[in-house]
Amino acid sequence: MQEERSEREKDKVVVLDFGGQYSHLIVRRCRELGVYTELMPYDVSITELERGVQRNRGEGKIRGIILSGSPFGVHEPDSPRCSTRIVDLGVPLLGICYGAQLLAALLGGVVTTGGKGEFGRSELMFTDSALFEGVSETGTTPVWMSHGDVIERFEGAEILGSAANAPVAAFRIRERIYGVQFHPEVHHTERGDRILWNFLYSICDCERNWTIAAFVAEAITTIRAEVGPDGKVLCGLSGGIDSSTTAVLVYKAIGDRLTCIFVDNGLLREGEREEVENTFRKSFKMNLIVVDAQSRFLEALKGVRDAEAKRKVIGELFITIFEEAAQKLGDVAFLAQGTIYPDRIESAKAGSARSSRIKSHHNVGALPERLGFTLIEPIEELYKDEVREVAKDLGIPAQIRNQHPFPGPGLAARIMGAVTEEKLRICRDASRIVEEELKRSGWYDKVWQAFATVGDDFATGVLGDARKEGRLVTIRVVESKEAMTADFVKLPYELLERMSNRITNEVKGVTWVTYAISSKPPATIEPC
Ligand code: XMP
Repeated sequence: MQEERSEREKDKVVVLDFGGQYSHLIVRRCRELGVYTELMPYDVSITELERGVQRNRGEGKIRGIILSGSPFGVHEPDSPRCSTRIVDLGVPLLGICYGAQLLAALLGGVVTTGGKGEFGRSELMFTDSALFEGVSETGTTPVWMSHGDVIERFEGAEILGSAANAPVAAFRIRERIYGVQFHPEVHHTERGDRILWNFLYSICDCERNWTIAAFVAEAITTIRAEVGPDGKVLCGLSGGIDSSTTAVLVYKAIGDRLTCIFVDNGLLREGEREEVENTFRKSFKMNLIVVDAQSRFLEALKGVRDAEAKRKVIGELFITIFEEAAQKLGDVAFLAQGTIYPDRIESAKAGSARSSRIKSHHNVGALPERLGFTLIEPIEELYKDEVREVAKDLGIPAQIRNQHPFPGPGLAARIMGAVTEEKLRICRDASRIVEEELKRSGWYDKVWQAFATVGDDFATGVLGDARKEGRLVTIRVVESKEAMTADFVKLPYELLERMSNRITNEVKGVTWVTYAISSKPPATIEPC
């Protein structure tokens, strides 16, 4: 299976992740420039890289490697290191920030600690080279720096650029090994895209192989080949963008041999079940089984207070329901899942085996093993915004494409303590109000996620002349790029006031409304 996969892989550029805050951004920029790019851990085996470099074009050949930044300095005892053999791979390398310092340290450069460093905007003075071709006519360009250590000297390297506190801000050594102290991947580096373009196309001689339309056509062909002429596929559909896109890709590939299953677990947002049914039955005419399991979930969750325990109960019950459906359908050999690229990266970081390609914390992760399904994960290489573009290409309605992410455990992730009918009602109604007000004021599309949470805290209020105890509801509205980090959105007070008024007036049993102002980290986006 693994070997078959690699045969199909596109030629690519690899970004080695040394833990820098912009590692993902490097991957995304390269993909935006049209080259398939993968993030790999810094300690990926050198033989895996060698194998990739030695492949023929069109067989997943690695055409270049970018070494990312890192919060470490190269002289720190625990600093992340890749194999020293990386410089002998014979493929172009580009070190960025820490990556550049690491290459310099490996190849005879002098990296010093404790100097001034540079943080923020700086002016790069550069000389003519393939890396800076077409960047500017003046020989200077604004760049973004974020480094404490400095490459002080680099015997044997060609110095291609310098800045106020970076005597070696860009270098080239051994023909095809480049390093830049600044971050070409961030927008503040004005000509960063051109610099990356030069690396990808002039230096690595990459082919332009990453467009959404090409991805869709290829994904459909691949699914068809994988499933064969008679194979049947089951797809768990949550109505979210990832599972919807997966379902439509599989449907376009094999039509009626796909059956989607949507589980109403009683933890859904208002109107969600009807919306999913309408869209997938009417717009796409898919085979869709809707399982009403509200009472089973609520029963199983009764009295379960701990957040992780709730997730476990929900995950297990999902699996049982999928098992029941698979048995009823009979001879289903494939399970389609909407795993996306950050899911895989997270799993790899958590130390799980990438080759198994089963995400340990995924809702139905245990199912393929239990039932012997073969997994189909057509969007496992995509970032969320790329999934949105694919969804658009497939004709998935904007309403689904642009909706906020919603967690697998549903509203249970937003109800602190035990899940009860009362708390579900409050969470659902208050969340609807938050969404309505955000949509009305034009904020919905500007934020990552927005919802209300409820727990077991009570606070006193007045109703008419009477004192009254009621529940405390917390509104959470966050901005984020990949959900790895998040910050609360500074909504106008008037908007928060309107939400608060409506929640206390319209949602029975609520007396207080608060706004969550914690960022992630240390908080998470969902409270449970
Ligand atoms: P946290 O709360 O960990 O969430 O900051 C990060 C992002 O992931 C979503 N989330 C989940 N999605 N199954 C999912 O499919 C889950 O169990 C789950 N838990 C959290 C969350 O909504 C946010 O976008």
